[in-house]
Amino acid sequence: MNWFYIEQLREHIGEEVELRGWVWNIRSSGKIHFIQFRDGTGFVQVVVESSFSGQDAFDRASKLRIESSAVVRGKVVEDQRSPYGVEIHATDVIPIQIPEEAYPISKKDHGIDFLMSYRHLWLRSRRQFHILKVRDAILRAIREFYKARNFTLIDTPIFTGAIGETAGNLFELDYFDYGKVYLTQTGQLYLEAACMAFGKVYNLGPTFRAEKSKTRRHLIEFWMHEAEVAYYEFEDNLKLQEQLVSHIVKYVLENASEHLRALGRDTSKLEKVEPPFERIRYDDAIKLLQKNGLNVTWGDDFGGDEETIIASNFNKPVFVTHYPRKVKAFYMQPDPQRPEVVLCADLLAPEGYGEIIGGSQRIHDYKLLLERLEEFNLPKEKYQWYLDLRRWGSVPHSGFGLGIERTVAWICGLEHIREAIPFARTLYRIYP
Ligand code: 4AD
Ligand code: MG
Repeated sequence: MNWFYIEQLREHIGEEVELRGWVWNIRSSGKIHFIQFRDGTGFVQVVVESSFSGQDAFDRASKLRIESSAVVRGKVVEDQRSPYGVEIHATDVIPIQIPEEAYPISKKDHGIDFLMSYRHLWLRSRRQFHILKVRDAILRAIREFYKARNFTLIDTPIFTGAIGETAGNLFELDYFDYGKVYLTQTGQLYLEAACMAFGKVYNLGPTFRAEKSKTRRHLIEFWMHEAEVAYYEFEDNLKLQEQLVSHIVKYVLENASEHLRALGRDTSKLEKVEPPFERIRYDDAIKLLQKNGLNVTWGDDFGGDEETIIASNFNKPVFVTHYPRKVKAFYMQPDPQRPEVVLCADLLAPEGYGEIIGGSQRIHDYKLLLERLEEFNLPKEKYQWYLDLRRWGSVPHSGFGLGIERTVAWICGLEHIREAIPFARTLYRIYP
């Protein structure tokens, strides 16, 4: 008999199929078992009745308990109540492994910490399944976006000698005779080198921040997608970002809508996400925050609360631009009209999800970059290669980084970022 996945069953109504998977729940009433079955592609109800399956198969099914693995054979029957439109009337049930103990996370009222400790099993639950399917769709959307634009994927290193963002939140390690190196905070500096070789480039990989923040938006290890384009200036950079984010949302709505629906996500707000996005200058954002009673002054950086208030004034993602250079990274190009601010933008997601992108035009002038390295107390000798980019064929260039988990949290409508990654690394968690 042919092995099929649950996601294929609709095309096999009336046929007899074999499914290989796990029992996520089972309910029995006398002469009938209802098995809620999953196989990694979806969920389906299997009905076992001895008159149809025979007594032996029925008895084998009686031994199943939550998270038994099993092979099920049966007829695919149309069923309008099921999200897949089908159920299985079993002709045979073959247990593979029957757990000796009760499944530890089957009760409904477990606290989040308990569930995180069982993340290796929690991944099997429906909600986690749908979230990580959306994540998968988001990553595919990103790759598709760049493929269509002929960007080159450049994989940037995890170990680095040069600090990419700020010195304050680096993980340090000893690297043989070389001494101290860091886990990367960003691949940007390497993408800058690559864009001078390939024109338009992107990366997608893990990044690390030793930040002692416990907010619902921070992870210690998170995935970032970054892009960098030679000859792009500030405006070009924002256009690329709004096209990318709109493409991601559209792709998920078109290719993963059943997962959003299963998560109970109100998609009406996502449907509004299309270019152009609105923009607000940092100066005006400060005024807006003051009007809302916040105690902020020009020169302050924004945290989650500020971002939420700013974003709540818009129903699409919004760019906050031209921050004071003192609150941003060393490599950002100053505004020629107003050198105390930089040509940067943070993209804030709507509905209180905060900053999903940070980006800027980069300093391309050798002398200015050298000054900034000194101003930020960064060791020049570690940046020789980065300075070289300004010595040979330097051109204006721009790029940005998008936080994958924040994007997943926003699109899925999650309360906390820890569910947006398979195995979260947070301040108090490195297990499992
Ligand atoms: O704003 P950030 O720090 O920008 C950079 O690292 C630039 N070098 C990117 C570039 O221009 N190539 O980080 C970019 C994004 C943020 O907007 C946010 O979405 C995410 O990465 N991010 C985090 N996500 C989860 N946990 C954290 N601790 C994060 N820190 C940043
Ligand atoms: Mg940022």
